[in-house]
Amino acid sequence: MDLYEYQAKELFSAHGVPAPPGAVVTTVDDAVAAAEKLGLPVMVKSQVKIGGRGKAGGVKFAATIDDVRTHAGNILGLDIKGHVTRQILITPASEIAEEYYVSFLLDRSNRTYLAMATHEGGMEIEQLAEERPDALAKIAVDAVTGVDAAKAAEIADAGKFPAEVRDQVIEVLQGLWKTFVAEDATLVEVNPLVKDGEGKVVALDGKVSLDDNAEFRHPDHAALADNAAADPLEAKAKENDLNYVKLDGEVGIIGNGAGLVMSTLDVVAYAGEQHGGVKPANFLDIGGGANAQVMANGLDIILGDEQVKAVFVNVFGGITACDEVANGIVGALDLLGDAATKPLVVRLDGNNVELGRQILTERNHPLVTLADTMDGGADLAAAKAAEPAASAAK
Ligand SMILES: Nc1ncnc2c1ncn2[C@@H]1O[C@H](COP(=O)(O)OP(=O)(O)OP(=O)(O)O)[C@@H](O)[C@H]1O
Ligand SMILES: [Mg+2]
Repeated sequence: MDLYEYQAKELFSAHGVPAPPGAVVTTVDDAVAAAEKLGLPVMVKSQVKIGGRGKAGGVKFAATIDDVRTHAGNILGLDIKGHVTRQILITPASEIAEEYYVSFLLDRSNRTYLAMATHEGGMEIEQLAEERPDALAKIAVDAVTGVDAAKAAEIADAGKFPAEVRDQVIEVLQGLWKTFVAEDATLVEVNPLVKDGEGKVVALDGKVSLDDNAEFRHPDHAALADNAAADPLEAKAKENDLNYVKLDGEVGIIGNGAGLVMSTLDVVAYAGEQHGGVKPANFLDIGGGANAQVMANGLDIILGDEQVKAVFVNVFGGITACDEVANGIVGALDLLGDAATKPLVVRLDGNNVELGRQILTERNHPLVTLADTMDGGADLAAAKAAEPAASAAK
């Protein structure tokens, strides 16, 4: 999960990294009230989860209340690379003497963590990394020993920070590492870290990505999730503990096991080429132990996707035998009743497959068609998805 700038800076402050206070607002009047409370001048900053906000006109300096009104009015609703601004941050404008850059991230290719730092901030870091790679220090950080004062000094010196800010930068680096570890982040980045008019080093921007796999250790992080911005179907799937990713096609997919679901996406995409280019509508792994309720929850989400024209259920019975899955499907259709309106192609294989097929055959539900093979099922589901809507239930 990526965080907004204001959330990142709140975490920084909590771990001892100086970051100016601010107020997040959604209306011009609230922006004015916040600016009056904080005192002028302020910055008006779009809160969207994408870089390059400044260049897109999403970060403005306001010297007067009139400026706050103008900028807040312009930035609220501003579309930055497809991200529409719904919230703005009002924060004191700092005087900037120098701009720096620091970050910690997971370095997958080297199986370690990486610190990046430079006293030459102010320009896009990707550009600096490309044009003058030597100017951007990259220091590996051992997961076990982490960043103590000595390690932070090594990073600060490699980034060639001026002597008068060295001690402060060392403190900031340790605070950022604390943030990185304590919050289970995969990235913390400050661009720019600045020396202000009084010589104080502060974080004026913040980017944090949290590791979703560590979510269970951080019940408090749920409050950071921004459910309004997430896809409503994905949000619902999450509430039901389902591994669901919305895609852009017409064939809903349900399978058990991530690998099987991934390959199901492939065969459906391949089969879809023969049927007017229909594509998978989602990834949904119902995992092991898929009882009727889990199947019903999954089907409910997939049938709630208006783009879906047909569903392919592709299950390999292992620990969960096929008869349980078949009962799950029957139970799910009964639970959903009239809400189930789209054709279902079901391919079962593995443990107790005969019994599973028998259950579905006997139930003889008008929406369900059995397929013998994965390829055959994918082809049939793609064909049904490509049919005109009126005949879909046949
Ligand atoms: N509180 C502040 N006080 C003074 N200047 C600021 C403040 N916040 C931002 N700025 C200025 O605006 C510039 C852009 O701000 P910021 O880095 O937050 O946005 P950005 O466009 O998202 O940057 P990025 O390219 O890292 O995504 C900063 O480099 C800095 O010069
Ligand atoms: Mg920035």
